[in-house]
Amino acid sequence: MTTTDSKPAPKDPWDLPDVSGLVVGVLGGTGEQGRGLAYRLAKAGQQVIIGSRAADRAQEVAAGIGHGVEGADNAECARRSDIVIVAVPWDGHAKTLESLREELAGKLVVDCVNPLGFDKKGAYALKPEEGSAAEQAAALLPDSRVAAAFHHLSAVLLQDTSLEEIDTDVMVLGEERADVELVQALAGRIPGMRGVFAGRLRNAHQVESLVANLISVNRRYKAHAGLRVTDI
Ligand SMILES: NC(=O)c1ccc[n+]([C@@H]2O[C@H](COP(=O)([O-])OP(=O)(O)OC[C@H]3O[C@@H](n4cnc5c(N)ncnc54)[C@H](OP(=O)(O)O)[C@@H]3O)[C@@H](O)[C@H]2O)c1
Repeated sequence: MTTTDSKPAPKDPWDLPDVSGLVVGVLGGTGEQGRGLAYRLAKAGQQVIIGSRAADRAQEVAAGIGHGVEGADNAECARRSDIVIVAVPWDGHAKTLESLREELAGKLVVDCVNPLGFDKKGAYALKPEEGSAAEQAAALLPDSRVAAAFHHLSAVLLQDTSLEEIDTDVMVLGEERADVELVQALAGRIPGMRGVFAGRLRNAHQVESLVANLISVNRRYKAHAGLRVTDI
């Protein structure tokens, strides 16, 4: 008698879901990073709503971005979106998320916040009590699904309308494979980018901190450096 191996074939890690129908919100979307991400995602065909502490500011910035981007206050932005990118400064991170706990319940929240300090030696990584900004988000938002991504992008390149492609990988961290894959797929909508799984949220601190190294690179080489993960 022969037995057949009933193990399912391993899943292709590049077989990612279709996210084209999902609404993406960007908290703090009037800022450098938020504007850049909103522009790139909307240009790729995603429906995007940028959030602000002031709705009129968001509407004004959204009109400037074009490509159908809408503006709203952060609460409405969170409420109307399926995936919500957090792009506020580290200083306002905890307070912003605490105030939006209800609106963010059930949503996939993608944190791109890099807790950094600056002194005369340059940029350095801060050490959040929870381990990282992403883990702080997860602690503050028990009813949301939290992932982390988009830390290593240059807002300057994102906003440069003369560039058709952004040559970089995006490290994506999270607890649930399905959520991580949604964010990988979202990153992959931007020409030139790949979303690469890079571990659980307990490893977000290194990814957030690496931005201090990239800032050092950028200063020395007058660049807007990105990252590529090789051999995948
Ligand atoms: N810049 C980059 O290249 C880059 C790259 C990767 C990741 N990031 C991360 O993305 C986040 C945003 O960076 P950024 O350069 O875009 O910052 P930013 O331009 O200084 O701020 C983004 C927006 O956040 C809102 N904001 C400012 N202070 C706030 C506070 N205390 N509480 C709540 N909202 C506040 C403001 O919008 P309103 O006044 O309209 O509310 C502002 O336009 C940071 O955490 C950064 O680490 C930045």
